[in-house]
Amino acid sequence: MDAITGIQGSYWLETAPPGAPAPPPAGDLTVDVAVIGGGIAGLSTAWELVRQGREVAVLEADRIAAGVTGRTTAKLTALHTLVYDRLRRTRGPEGARLYARSQAEAIRHASEIAGELGVDCEWEEAAACTYAEDPDRLGELRAEADAAREAGLPAEFVTELPELPFEVAGAVRVSGQAQFHPRKYLLALTDDLRRRGGTVYEGTRVVALTEGEPCVLRTEAGVSVRAGEVVIATHYPVFDRALLFTRLSPRRELVVAGTIDEDRAPRDMYITPEQATRSVRSAPYRDGKRLLIVTGEHFTPGTADVEERFDRLSGWAGERFPGLTFTHRWATQDNDSTDSVPLVGRLHHGSRHTYVATGFGGWGLSGGIMAGRLLGDLVGGREADWSGLYDPRRLAPVVREGKSFLKHQAQVARHFVGDRLPSMTPPALADIPPGHGAVVRVGGQRRAVHRDENGSLHAVSARCTHLGCVVAFNNAEQAWECPCHGSRFAPDGHILQGPAVRPLERRELPEA
Ligand code: FES
Repeated sequence: MDAITGIQGSYWLETAPPGAPAPPPAGDLTVDVAVIGGGIAGLSTAWELVRQGREVAVLEADRIAAGVTGRTTAKLTALHTLVYDRLRRTRGPEGARLYARSQAEAIRHASEIAGELGVDCEWEEAAACTYAEDPDRLGELRAEADAAREAGLPAEFVTELPELPFEVAGAVRVSGQAQFHPRKYLLALTDDLRRRGGTVYEGTRVVALTEGEPCVLRTEAGVSVRAGEVVIATHYPVFDRALLFTRLSPRRELVVAGTIDEDRAPRDMYITPEQATRSVRSAPYRDGKRLLIVTGEHFTPGTADVEERFDRLSGWAGERFPGLTFTHRWATQDNDSTDSVPLVGRLHHGSRHTYVATGFGGWGLSGGIMAGRLLGDLVGGREADWSGLYDPRRLAPVVREGKSFLKHQAQVARHFVGDRLPSMTPPALADIPPGHGAVVRVGGQRRAVHRDENGSLHAVSARCTHLGCVVAFNNAEQAWECPCHGSRFAPDGHILQGPAVRPLERRELPEA
C-alpha cells in the first residue's frame, strides 16, 4: 500500500505476492554458472542453462521478480516506440531485421514456455501501436512503419485507432504481439528452474567479483561463490569492467492504474513518445472490469517533483478515459543505451567467462527473454544470429553513438561536479517538513537528511557509494536517488536499487 495515496502499489506484486523468501547460501558454493540478479533477464538465462544440464545458482539481492520486472507495464512486443527507423540508419537494414527477428522470436519463445509450463499468466494476443496526436510527427510515424515492415514485422501506418476514446493524427500498428502477467509467468518459470535442479538465493547481495577460472564472487555476508561462468543481470551492471556506465542512462517512469468497464477498455497496447511518453494497456480484472494501466512521465532519478508528475499522469488518464477509478500506482526504472540497443553478451574485450545483460530501454520483457536465450547459447558455446547486434563490445561509443553518448557524459559530469559547488541557498534542517528529505550542509559537509512522519531527523552521507554523485530525495517514493546511474536508497541508507553495492553511511547530526 502506498503510504501517501492510500492506494495499492504494483498490481503485479499484489496479485502474485512473494511467498516465503528463499534463504541465502549457508556456506561457500561451487556451481557451473552463477547468475547475479533475479529479474526476467537473470531468471530466463538461468532457466535456459538448467535446461542444458548446467548447475546454476541465481543470487538475488532482494526478492526475485520484484524489482523492475515486478513493476513493468508487461507488454511483450517487438515494436519499441520508434526504434526501427533509427536502427535502419545507425545499424543498417540488416541490423533492424535482426532486432525485429530476435524480439519476435523472444515473444514466440515465451508463449511456448507458458504453454509448456501450463501457467495461467493471463496471456493475451494484442496489437502494439505507436501513435502521435501532433500532425507534425506523421513523417516519423510513416518512416517507422516503413522501417518496421522492412525489418520483417507486420507493420502498417494507420490514421485511426478506434479503441482509443480520443483522436490521433496517425499510428504504426503491428499485429500479433502479446501482453501478460509477468510475475505469474516468472514464478512458474522459477518453480520449473528449481524442479530441474537450479537454486535461487534471495537476500544475497554480491559485492565482489574476481574473474578467472573459476570466477569467484563474494556476497555481503562473506560467502564465496566459485563459478565457471558468471552472468550479471542486475539491471544496471553492478560490476562494470567495460565502463558500460558511460553508455547507459537511467530513466524512472511512473505507472497509474484503475478499473474501467470491460466494454470501454482498450484490448490492444498503445504508446506515444509525446508528453514524456504515454503508454496504455489493460489487463483482466474482476466484476466486469478491466484494469487500465497507464505509464509515462519519464525522468532522470533524483531530478523531478515526482508527486507533481504522478498528478499529471493520473490527470491525463482520468481525462482521456472517463469513468476510470484509480486503484494502484507505482514506479519503475530502466536504462537507455546510447544507441537504443540493449547490451547483452560478453562483459568486456578480455572476458572469457563473464557476461552481462542491460540497457533494455523500457522494453525489458521481450528484451529479457531474448537475453536469456542469447546468453544461454553463448555460455553453451553457440552464437545466435543477432549476438553481434547486442554485443556490449560492439562499438567505439564516441564515433557511432556520438550525440547521445556526449549528452549523457555531460549530464553525469554536471551531477558529479556541479552538485559539489556551493549551493546558493542550502536548505536548513528546520525547513525540512515531515516525510521530506534534503541535502544540507552540516559543519561544511553535505548530509542527506530525512525527517520522518514523527518529526525525527535521520542523516546519511549524501555521496552515492557507486561513484560519488550527490543523491536527491524523492518525496513521493520516500527514497534517496542518484541522478548519475540510478542507484536508490531508503531514508536510512540501505540499498533499494543498484548499481551501488554499499549502503549510504549513517551520519550524526548536531544536537538541536
Ligand atoms: Fe553511479 Fe550514483 S549510481 S554515482
